[in-house]
Amino acid sequence: MRIFFISIILLGTSALAQVIPQPSHAEFGKGFYCGKTTSILLDDNAIDAISKATYSPDDEAYILDVTDSGIKITAESPIGRLRATQTLAQLTDAKGNVRHCHIKDHPAYAWRGAMIDVSRNFFTIDFLKKQIDVLARYKINRLHLHLTDAAGWRIEILRYPRLTKLGAFRTFNSWKTWWNGRPEYGGSSDPLRRKYVPAGSEGACGGYYTQKELRDLVLYAARRGITIIPEIEMPAHSEEVLTAYPELSCTHEPYKQADFCPGNVASYDFLEHVLEEVISIFPSHYIHIGGDEAAKASWRTCPLCAKKMQELGISDVDKLQSHFIAHFGRFLNKHGRQLIGWDEIIDSNLTPNTNIMVWRNADIATNAVNCGYNVILSPGSHCYFDTYQDAPPSQPEAGGGFTTLEKVYSFIPGEKLSQNERKKHITGIQGNLWTEYVPTPDIAEYMLYPRMLAIAEIGWNGTETKNYPDFRQRALKEVVLLRSMGVNCFDLSSEVGDRAESRSEVKHLARGCRVSYAPEAPYYKKAYSAAGDVTLTDGKRGGWNNNDGRWQGFISGREMRFDVTIDLGSSKAFSSVSTDFMQMCGPEIFYPEDYIVSISNDGSHFTELGRMHRDSMKTLNTEVTTFCVKKKARARFIRVQATPSAFSGWLFADEIVVK
Ligand code: ACM
Ligand code: ZN
Repeated sequence: MRIFFISIILLGTSALAQVIPQPSHAEFGKGFYCGKTTSILLDDNAIDAISKATYSPDDEAYILDVTDSGIKITAESPIGRLRATQTLAQLTDAKGNVRHCHIKDHPAYAWRGAMIDVSRNFFTIDFLKKQIDVLARYKINRLHLHLTDAAGWRIEILRYPRLTKLGAFRTFNSWKTWWNGRPEYGGSSDPLRRKYVPAGSEGACGGYYTQKELRDLVLYAARRGITIIPEIEMPAHSEEVLTAYPELSCTHEPYKQADFCPGNVASYDFLEHVLEEVISIFPSHYIHIGGDEAAKASWRTCPLCAKKMQELGISDVDKLQSHFIAHFGRFLNKHGRQLIGWDEIIDSNLTPNTNIMVWRNADIATNAVNCGYNVILSPGSHCYFDTYQDAPPSQPEAGGGFTTLEKVYSFIPGEKLSQNERKKHITGIQGNLWTEYVPTPDIAEYMLYPRMLAIAEIGWNGTETKNYPDFRQRALKEVVLLRSMGVNCFDLSSEVGDRAESRSEVKHLARGCRVSYAPEAPYYKKAYSAAGDVTLTDGKRGGWNNNDGRWQGFISGREMRFDVTIDLGSSKAFSSVSTDFMQMCGPEIFYPEDYIVSISNDGSHFTELGRMHRDSMKTLNTEVTTFCVKKKARARFIRVQATPSAFSGWLFADEIVVK
């Protein structure tokens, strides 16, 4: 390793030894180095390697020694040197002094990423630069920009100006109002929509980045040790493209399709031209092509798609998607780049060193590895930051879910893989900020931090020496610092945590009793079966996460769908029957309208004991309400029915409490 004696201008300050991510090996002495400091500059070779991401985790290794005589950094490469200075920045106190230390450090994973969705809501270059400054502090080394989606195309493409002229602006600033109403784009040919204003104001909203701005951003990030990964969505999530260029969809109608027509050669030509410009802006070895959530509905009836499938000798549209993705994998390889995509692309017969970004379920990593691919883990269960990070009633509206700092930190990448598979195939981990419910830069920062610090910690430090209380202490200090630096970080010290009811078990008359589900009512949905048939009487109440294994989800519709009967074993006296239901409008989980309790002694003839009614009403944040019938009675069988809300959707219940 090469040795560098340097002194440094340090931007941040923090209490001693409170570094995130924690170094792999660190010893601290009692003394301080109080020397004069100057800044470290990366040479052009280092900037080139970082902007392409062609350095390895070994290149990021460094040794840092601070003694009375100065600061000594030992590193093989400039990126290792940069990582050492990022540690130093955190170790320097308010007076600019650094405690004597010997630190020997290297990352666990090559990819330690942050994704920001700049399509659902547009964020300025200045905002992105500010995030790069923050992310660099924690040695995050990839910033993935979700540049295109239905809500707006955000990258200037010289060959196809309508992508930005029309597709970068939408007619409502609120994504929710726009998406749930009649989504339209604001083209400059329409005088009413000429005035483009940022989110938060009335009128059309949006924006895009020029190629010059993006090239400057790439350089800005590389100087701080971060590679920008562009994502161009295909074949789905492309409503904005297919309104600007409707001839690329199967039906050629604007405002109708989300998926490109993979039977039309024009789709391939168009996307290749787009990617050529993307490649010219972003030196990154990896180019993300999305690949998620294609409905493929129009492909089933499209003559061009039918012809293409015949030519390829395939009969199903999933194989057509595979063909489409594989085409762009080869295209990128020809340009010396590598395709990366969401986990739906696994079946696409891609080159073996392709990286799959796992999002639907962490276990999909196993399928990807079995196909010979590498994986970047960003499962919705732990790594999606559009979810609530604290008790929803105390938080701004989010997309749903409940992902606390502790939950993010608890993630173990590739838990079901062997040690060898993990070592060979896990490229890294990433935190994703989708922005449907993130209308302002302040809220974006609030959702990102401190959760992104847990991604940085796992990504650099691995999971073998996990210790949440220790990490939380370090995170608390960082939160204070970030807030003092003007970052609108969630105040971890005010954390309320999970729903109080979920922290202890509830004792009641029906606990452990058998529950039967009315055969004519569709059963609880498999994906939300929780603990199965025992869920509603196991004494366990749900938390703020509807997918925590305690809430049982029932498919709704307007018919009666929640219809269960409890057998108490013998006739017993009781005075109340209550059930908590969750409402989370984003994922269409609603309260019931009527809650009906009936009783019987023979299990077949029931009489209604009472009911509770609640008018259907949407709410912003996740809520839980207790539906209850209070009446003294004696019976062996208790039947509980709940009618769905006026909005259909789902019903979620955790326990039927009989007292
Ligand atoms: C995704 O969340 N659709 C990748
Ligand atoms: Zn088609």
